[in-house]
Parts: sequence; C-alpha cells; structure tokens
Amino acid sequence: MTDIMTAIAERRSAKRFDPSVIIPEHELRAILDAGRKAPTAFNIQHWRFVVVSDPELRKQIRAVSWDQPQVEEAGALIILCADFKAWDKNPARYWAAAPENMQTTYEGMIRQFYDGNEQFQRDEGIRSCGMAAYA
Ligand SMILES: Cc1cc2nc3c(=O)[nH]c(=O)nc-3n(C[C@H](O)[C@H](O)[C@H](O)COP(=O)(O)O)c2cc1C
Repeated sequence: MTDIMTAIAERRSAKRFDPSVIIPEHELRAILDAGRKAPTAFNIQHWRFVVVSDPELRKQIRAVSWDQPQVEEAGALIILCADFKAWDKNPARYWAAAPENMQTTYEGMIRQFYDGNEQFQRDEGIRSCGMAAYA
C-alpha cells in the first residue's frame, strides 16, 4: 500500500530523457504487459499498442507533436491507439474462457450498447486507452 501511494505521489511527466538509454526488450514487454492488464468495458480491450522504434519515423512524429523532444529522446515510444470498432470484431472471443451461455449473453449486450452509437464507441475507446496509459 505504501509503495503504491509513494509511486502515485512521486509520479511526474518527464519531459527530457537521456537518448543514449534504450529500454531493453524484456522491460518493454513488461511495460506493454502491464498496459494490457488494464480494465476495459466488457473486456473488449480496444487499445492497440504501437511501438515505434524506427528513428526516422520518431523524427517525423516529433515534428507533428509540437516538436517535443521526448518523442525522440525517450527510451521507447509507444503510441496508444483505440480501435473504435473492436466491439464488432467477433466479440464472443472476449469471453472465450467463460461458459458458452455467458459468451452469447455478453455478445448480445455488447451489440446492444455499441451498435449505432458512434459517440459511445469513441468515448469507450479513449477511456480505455487512458486507463491503459496510466497502468
Ligand atoms: C491529456 C494530457 C495531455 C498531455 N500532453 C502533454 C504534452 O503534449 N506534452 C507534455 O510535455 N506533457 C503533456 N501532459 C502532461 C502534463 O503537462 C502534466 O501532467 C501536468 O503538467 C502535471 O504534471 P505532472 O504530470 O508531472 O504531475 C499531458 C497530460 C495529459 C493528462
């Protein structure tokens, strides 16, 4: 508990990084793993994590990010994207580990909530990305 409170109290948005420090593959995997454990409505997991490692691409992304140096300097660049249509991509699979009747029930509920509701699809996607980013 104390560790969590300390981590929350001491968290800061870092603006500058030592560009010579590259996050090793196993640590990057652990970070992505933590992100994908974040909760999502109906377990839809609408986030998509894109790791950008190509230096030229990072330069171009920096240029369209108000030239903020951290885009190029950070030990890793992860772009968090929301798939607003994830709810419509075989949603029963999000409940594949649950009994079959639950899969059917949840698939129906997902369609009821999301189908035709573009604003809600967008809100949920962005909300879930925010939670994954904080994880
Ligand atoms: C939605 C959002 C967008 C942000 N965008 C940027 C950004 O483009 N560049 C940046 O340096 N910090 C950005 N920040 C970080 C804020 O500047 C920072 O959280 C705020 O100043 C408080 O500082 P702290 O996070 O260190 O407590 C963003 C934060 C949020 C929540």
